[in-house]
Amino acid sequence: MSGKLKIGVLASGGGTNLQAIIDRCLDGSLPVEIVLVLSNNPGAGALERAARAGLPTCCIDHREFDNREDFDRAVVAALQSAGVELVVLAGFMRLITDIFLQAYPGRIMNIHPALLPAFPGLHVQKKALEYGARFAGCTVHFVDSGVDTGPIILQAVVPVLQDDTEESLSRRILEQEHRIYPRAIELFAQGRLRIDGRRVIIDPPLPPEESALVNPPLEG
Ligand code: GRF
Repeated sequence: MSGKLKIGVLASGGGTNLQAIIDRCLDGSLPVEIVLVLSNNPGAGALERAARAGLPTCCIDHREFDNREDFDRAVVAALQSAGVELVVLAGFMRLITDIFLQAYPGRIMNIHPALLPAFPGLHVQKKALEYGARFAGCTVHFVDSGVDTGPIILQAVVPVLQDDTEESLSRRILEQEHRIYPRAIELFAQGRLRIDGRRVIIDPPLPPEESALVNPPLEG
Protein backbone atom coordinates (compact mmCIF):
# COMPACT_ATOMS: atom_id res chain seq x y z
CA MET A 1 0.00 0.00 0.00
CA SER A 2 1.53 3.30 -1.09
CA GLY A 3 -0.89 5.60 0.75
CA LYS A 4 -0.86 7.81 -2.34
CA LEU A 5 -4.03 9.21 -3.89
CA LYS A 6 -5.30 6.76 -6.49
CA ILE A 7 -6.21 8.41 -9.76
CA GLY A 8 -7.87 7.13 -12.91
CA VAL A 9 -7.09 8.94 -16.17
CA LEU A 10 -9.70 8.91 -18.95
CA ALA A 11 -8.52 9.78 -22.44
CA SER A 12 -9.84 9.34 -25.97
CA GLY A 13 -6.89 10.58 -28.00
CA GLY A 14 -3.14 10.92 -28.16
CA GLY A 15 -2.63 11.27 -24.44
CA THR A 16 0.03 13.95 -24.13
CA ASN A 17 -1.60 15.20 -20.92
CA LEU A 18 -1.58 11.63 -19.61
CA GLN A 19 2.12 11.49 -20.51
CA ALA A 20 2.84 14.69 -18.57
CA ILE A 21 1.13 13.17 -15.53
CA ILE A 22 3.01 9.87 -15.93
CA ASP A 23 6.33 11.74 -16.24
CA ARG A 24 5.68 13.71 -13.07
CA CYS A 25 4.81 10.47 -11.24
CA LEU A 26 7.97 8.81 -12.50
CA ASP A 27 10.27 11.65 -11.45
CA GLY A 28 8.67 11.56 -8.03
CA SER A 29 7.31 15.11 -8.12
CA LEU A 30 3.63 14.08 -8.26
CA PRO A 31 2.79 11.82 -5.34
CA VAL A 32 -0.22 9.99 -6.82
CA GLU A 33 -0.72 6.49 -8.15
CA ILE A 34 -2.30 6.01 -11.58
CA VAL A 35 -4.35 2.88 -10.94
CA LEU A 36 -6.23 2.89 -14.26
CA VAL A 37 -6.05 4.48 -17.70
CA LEU A 38 -9.40 4.10 -19.42
CA SER A 39 -10.43 4.98 -22.94
CA ASN A 40 -13.61 4.77 -24.98
CA ASN A 41 -11.45 4.52 -28.10
CA PRO A 42 -9.62 1.26 -28.80
CA GLY A 43 -7.12 3.15 -31.00
CA ALA A 44 -6.26 5.83 -28.45
CA GLY A 45 -2.57 6.69 -28.27
CA ALA A 46 -3.16 7.20 -24.55
CA LEU A 47 -3.64 3.44 -24.12
CA GLU A 48 -0.28 2.80 -25.77
CA ARG A 49 1.42 5.37 -23.58
CA ALA A 50 -0.10 3.75 -20.49
CA ALA A 51 0.93 0.26 -21.55
CA ARG A 52 4.46 1.50 -22.23
CA ALA A 53 4.59 2.85 -18.70
CA GLY A 54 3.33 -0.45 -17.33
CA LEU A 55 0.01 1.01 -16.13
CA PRO A 56 -3.28 -0.91 -15.99
CA THR A 57 -5.47 -0.05 -18.97
CA CYS A 58 -9.07 -0.63 -19.90
CA CYS A 59 -11.05 0.14 -23.02
CA ILE A 60 -14.81 0.53 -22.87
CA ASP A 61 -16.07 1.28 -26.35
CA HIS A 62 -19.05 3.64 -26.11
CA ARG A 63 -20.40 2.29 -29.41
CA GLU A 64 -21.30 -0.94 -27.66
CA PHE A 65 -23.82 0.81 -25.42
CA ASP A 66 -27.38 1.93 -26.19
CA ASN A 67 -27.17 5.11 -24.12
CA ARG A 68 -24.78 7.33 -22.16
CA GLU A 69 -26.05 6.14 -18.78
CA ASP A 70 -25.21 2.49 -19.45
CA PHE A 71 -21.79 3.49 -20.75
CA ASP A 72 -21.18 5.56 -17.62
CA ARG A 73 -22.27 2.68 -15.38
CA ALA A 74 -19.63 0.49 -16.99
CA VAL A 75 -16.98 3.22 -16.67
CA VAL A 76 -17.81 3.87 -13.01
CA ALA A 77 -17.70 0.12 -12.25
CA ALA A 78 -14.21 -0.09 -13.77
CA LEU A 79 -13.01 2.97 -11.85
CA GLN A 80 -14.44 1.74 -8.58
CA SER A 81 -13.01 -1.73 -8.91
CA ALA A 82 -9.59 -0.17 -9.51
CA GLY A 83 -10.06 1.89 -6.33
CA VAL A 84 -9.95 5.26 -8.12
CA GLU A 85 -10.38 8.22 -5.77
CA LEU A 86 -9.91 11.08 -8.27
CA VAL A 87 -11.03 10.95 -11.90
CA VAL A 88 -8.84 12.88 -14.33
CA LEU A 89 -10.41 13.58 -17.74
CA ALA A 90 -7.57 14.21 -20.18
CA GLY A 91 -9.02 14.63 -23.64
CA PHE A 92 -11.96 12.34 -22.87
CA MET A 93 -14.40 13.07 -25.66
CA ARG A 94 -17.61 11.86 -24.04
CA LEU A 95 -20.18 13.91 -22.16
CA ILE A 96 -20.67 12.44 -18.74
CA THR A 97 -24.04 11.84 -17.08
CA ASP A 98 -25.37 12.22 -13.54
CA ILE A 99 -24.59 8.55 -12.95
CA PHE A 100 -20.89 9.38 -13.21
CA LEU A 101 -21.12 12.70 -11.34
CA GLN A 102 -22.95 11.13 -8.42
CA ALA A 103 -20.39 8.34 -8.14
CA TYR A 104 -17.53 10.89 -7.86
CA PRO A 105 -18.96 14.14 -6.48
CA GLY A 106 -16.32 16.87 -6.49
CA ARG A 107 -13.79 14.26 -7.59
CA ILE A 108 -13.73 14.65 -11.37
CA MET A 109 -11.33 17.09 -13.05
CA ASN A 110 -11.10 18.15 -16.67
CA ILE A 111 -8.71 20.18 -18.77
CA HIS A 112 -10.02 22.49 -21.45
CA PRO A 113 -7.87 24.31 -24.03
CA ALA A 114 -9.41 27.74 -23.55
CA LEU A 115 -9.73 30.40 -20.91
CA LEU A 116 -13.15 29.50 -19.54
CA PRO A 117 -15.82 30.79 -19.45
CA ALA A 118 -14.75 31.92 -22.94
CA PHE A 119 -14.99 29.26 -25.61
CA PRO A 120 -16.51 26.15 -24.04
CA GLY A 121 -17.10 23.13 -26.29
CA LEU A 122 -15.08 21.93 -29.27
CA HIS A 123 -12.49 23.43 -31.67
CA VAL A 124 -11.89 26.22 -29.22
CA GLN A 125 -8.37 27.15 -30.30
CA LYS A 126 -9.76 27.85 -33.79
CA LYS A 127 -12.62 29.81 -32.28
CA ALA A 128 -10.27 31.97 -30.19
CA LEU A 129 -8.18 32.68 -33.28
CA GLU A 130 -11.18 33.51 -35.46
CA TYR A 131 -12.64 35.72 -32.75
CA GLY A 132 -9.44 37.75 -32.71
CA ALA A 133 -8.69 37.16 -29.03
CA ARG A 134 -5.24 38.46 -28.01
CA PHE A 135 -4.91 35.85 -25.27
CA ALA A 136 -5.84 32.20 -25.16
CA GLY A 137 -4.96 29.50 -22.66
CA CYS A 138 -6.17 26.51 -20.76
CA THR A 139 -8.27 25.74 -17.72
CA VAL A 140 -8.32 22.88 -15.22
CA HIS A 141 -11.73 22.68 -13.58
CA PHE A 142 -13.91 20.37 -11.56
CA VAL A 143 -16.64 18.80 -13.64
CA ASP A 144 -20.30 19.57 -13.04
CA SER A 145 -23.39 18.75 -15.10
CA GLY A 146 -22.72 21.45 -17.72
CA VAL A 147 -20.29 21.46 -20.60
CA ASP A 148 -17.01 23.02 -19.37
CA THR A 149 -18.84 24.95 -16.65
CA GLY A 150 -17.46 23.55 -13.40
CA PRO A 151 -15.47 25.44 -10.73
CA ILE A 152 -12.06 26.57 -11.98
CA ILE A 153 -8.91 25.28 -10.28
CA LEU A 154 -6.03 26.69 -12.36
CA GLN A 155 -5.62 28.59 -15.61
CA ALA A 156 -2.65 29.42 -17.81
CA VAL A 157 -2.63 32.26 -20.33
CA VAL A 158 -0.73 32.34 -23.62
CA PRO A 159 -0.55 35.14 -26.17
CA VAL A 160 -2.17 34.73 -29.57
CA LEU A 161 0.41 35.73 -32.19
CA GLN A 162 -0.37 37.49 -35.44
CA ASP A 163 0.78 34.61 -37.64
CA ASP A 164 -0.69 31.83 -35.49
CA THR A 165 -2.47 28.92 -37.06
CA GLU A 166 -4.83 26.64 -35.17
CA GLU A 167 -1.91 24.19 -34.89
CA SER A 168 0.67 26.66 -33.58
CA LEU A 169 -1.76 28.09 -31.04
CA SER A 170 -2.85 24.61 -29.94
CA ARG A 171 0.80 23.64 -29.42
CA ARG A 172 1.45 26.71 -27.29
CA ILE A 173 -1.63 25.98 -25.19
CA LEU A 174 -0.81 22.29 -24.86
CA GLU A 175 2.61 23.09 -23.39
CA GLN A 176 0.85 24.93 -20.60
CA GLU A 177 -1.72 22.16 -20.16
CA HIS A 178 1.16 19.83 -19.38
CA ARG A 179 2.29 22.19 -16.61
CA ILE A 180 -0.99 23.03 -14.94
CA TYR A 181 -2.77 19.66 -14.99
CA PRO A 182 -0.20 17.83 -12.85
CA ARG A 183 -0.11 20.84 -10.50
CA ALA A 184 -3.91 20.81 -10.03
CA ILE A 185 -3.79 17.07 -9.30
CA GLU A 186 -0.98 17.66 -6.81
CA LEU A 187 -3.04 20.32 -5.00
CA PHE A 188 -5.97 17.90 -4.80
CA ALA A 189 -3.71 15.13 -3.51
CA GLN A 190 -2.43 17.49 -0.84
CA GLY A 191 -6.02 18.09 0.30
CA ARG A 192 -5.68 21.79 -0.53
CA LEU A 193 -8.73 22.21 -2.79
CA ARG A 194 -12.20 23.03 -1.51
CA ILE A 195 -15.20 23.86 -3.68
CA ASP A 196 -17.20 26.82 -2.40
CA GLY A 197 -20.06 27.48 -4.81
CA ARG A 198 -18.45 28.45 -8.11
CA ARG A 199 -15.08 29.08 -6.53
CA VAL A 200 -12.27 26.72 -5.68
CA ILE A 201 -10.46 27.69 -2.51
CA ILE A 202 -6.78 26.72 -2.29
CA ASP A 203 -5.76 26.29 1.30
CA PRO A 204 -3.21 27.40 2.29
CA PRO A 205 -3.31 29.93 -0.56
CA LEU A 206 -0.57 30.18 -3.14
CA PRO A 207 1.17 33.51 -3.78
CA PRO A 208 -0.94 35.30 -6.40
CA GLU A 209 0.19 36.37 -9.86
CA GLU A 210 0.43 40.12 -9.56
CA SER A 211 1.71 41.25 -12.92
CA ALA A 212 -0.69 42.15 -15.72
CA LEU A 213 -0.14 40.86 -19.24
CA VAL A 214 -0.70 43.06 -22.26
CA ASN A 215 -0.57 41.61 -25.77
CA PRO A 216 0.95 43.02 -27.84
CA PRO A 217 3.05 44.74 -25.17
CA LEU A 218 2.74 48.50 -24.76
CA GLU A 219 6.46 49.00 -25.34
CA GLY A 220 8.00 48.74 -28.76
C1 GRF B 1 -6.20 18.77 -24.92
O1 GRF B 1 -6.10 19.93 -25.69
C2 GRF B 1 -7.20 18.96 -23.84
O2 GRF B 1 -7.26 20.27 -23.37
C3 GRF B 1 -8.49 18.61 -24.52
O3 GRF B 1 -8.16 17.52 -25.35
C4 GRF B 1 -6.79 17.59 -25.69
C5 GRF B 1 -6.16 16.30 -25.30
O4 GRF B 1 -4.85 16.18 -25.74
N1 GRF B 1 -9.53 18.35 -23.56
P1 GRF B 1 -3.97 14.94 -25.29
O5 GRF B 1 -4.73 13.67 -25.70
O6 GRF B 1 -3.75 15.01 -23.82
O7 GRF B 1 -2.70 15.07 -26.08
